Amino acid sequence: MTTQRKVKVGVIGCGNISPAYFKGMRVFGNILDVVACADIDMSRAHAKAAEFGVQACTDEELLAIPDIEIVVNITWPKAHTLVNMMAIEAGKNVHCEKPLAINRADGQKTIAAARAKGVRVGCAPDTFYGGGIQTCRKLIDDGWIGEPVAATAFYSSPGHERWHPDPEFYYEIGGGPMLDMGPYYLTALVNLIGPIKRVTGSTRITFPERVIGSQPKYGKHIKVETPTHIAGVMDFANGAVGTIITSFDVWSANLPRIEIYGTEGSLSVPDPNIFGGTVMVRRGAAQAWSEIPLTHSAEISRGTGVADMAYGLVYGRPQRANGDLAYHVLEVMCAFEESSRSGKHVEIQSTCPRPAALPTGLQAGELDT
Ligand SMILES: NC(=O)c1ccc[n+]([C@@H]2O[C@H](COP(=O)([O-])OP(=O)(O)OC[C@H]3O[C@@H](n4cnc5c(N)ncnc54)[C@H](O)[C@@H]3O)[C@@H](O)[C@H]2O)c1
Repeated sequence: MTTQRKVKVGVIGCGNISPAYFKGMRVFGNILDVVACADIDMSRAHAKAAEFGVQACTDEELLAIPDIEIVVNITWPKAHTLVNMMAIEAGKNVHCEKPLAINRADGQKTIAAARAKGVRVGCAPDTFYGGGIQTCRKLIDDGWIGEPVAATAFYSSPGHERWHPDPEFYYEIGGGPMLDMGPYYLTALVNLIGPIKRVTGSTRITFPERVIGSQPKYGKHIKVETPTHIAGVMDFANGAVGTIITSFDVWSANLPRIEIYGTEGSLSVPDPNIFGGTVMVRRGAAQAWSEIPLTHSAEISRGTGVADMAYGLVYGRPQRANGDLAYHVLEVMCAFEESSRSGKHVEIQSTCPRPAALPTGLQAGELDT
């Protein structure tokens, strides 16, 4: 499909996940034109610029390129607000990696600044555009499990310091399994069930120190500043009750990723950190789960949310992975720890509509206009 015009993009943050973005955005080459990249570590900017055929810049040089319309912020979480604000100040639309910010105040500041400047904020994850979650959304919307009454969501692992080359940020304020992995699970749940109005939670730090097991920092000790096991309960605005665990303190588990229980049956949702996966339904008194073929493509990748923002800019429509959704998810994530500290339920102040379901029948690299 040929679009009316292409939107120029600059990437800030050329670390571990950046190649997935450069490659994923190429799938949407009909609308995205990535022209520049920046990093505070210029050797990283130069390496990615050479690999992906774009211009290497400092942050300031990138933001001064007049025809860049979208800045993709893939810095580490504690720099998200700084870079988002710089981009907004420069009059750019900004799509940020998750989480939107590491606290509610920074998230609010970002949304307010973008609104005042008349630019858009988008945020990861965009895995919910994939065939796995979109198929689940269609099943729910088409009534296969009736009214959702409850949900479970579980992420557990022993932590990322065994594989990530620079894993320190996962244990700083703004890291931890909730701010790191919670966005996938909570964005999927809000997309499937709707916004959340109240939460309660209990959290702990199990290991006050971690030891890096990956190269090049093998053997380095990391001080843990943030809870690494978070258990929460969520009341959705529509009355459904959700249970979530995110943990870096679990060696092994046999838990599902996400399940949704409805008045007519149950839905097994695939890993919300991938674009595909296996969708299973078991309706009423059925004796077994049935696998449902995916109704939407899983042949997309990170960067789909950036493409949706570009479609939004070109065709004058909202994008799905938007700032209001990301802020709502951020507020919910922060509330689990607030609840654990205060011993009380926390009412969620923000809300957002469920993002529009994707139509079926889209080709790879194509979104709706
Ligand atoms: N690594 C993954 O598998 C993965 C997957 C999905 C999402 N993410 C998210 O992507 C983001 C980046 O993760 P990563 O693993 O690539 O981290 P990383 O540490 O490998 O890379 C982050 C990069 O940001 C740069 N940076 C920091 N502050 C900057 C600034 N002010 N201006 C320019 N550059 C700056 C750093 O120099 C570094 O190169 C995080 O929000 C993370 O949660 C990571």
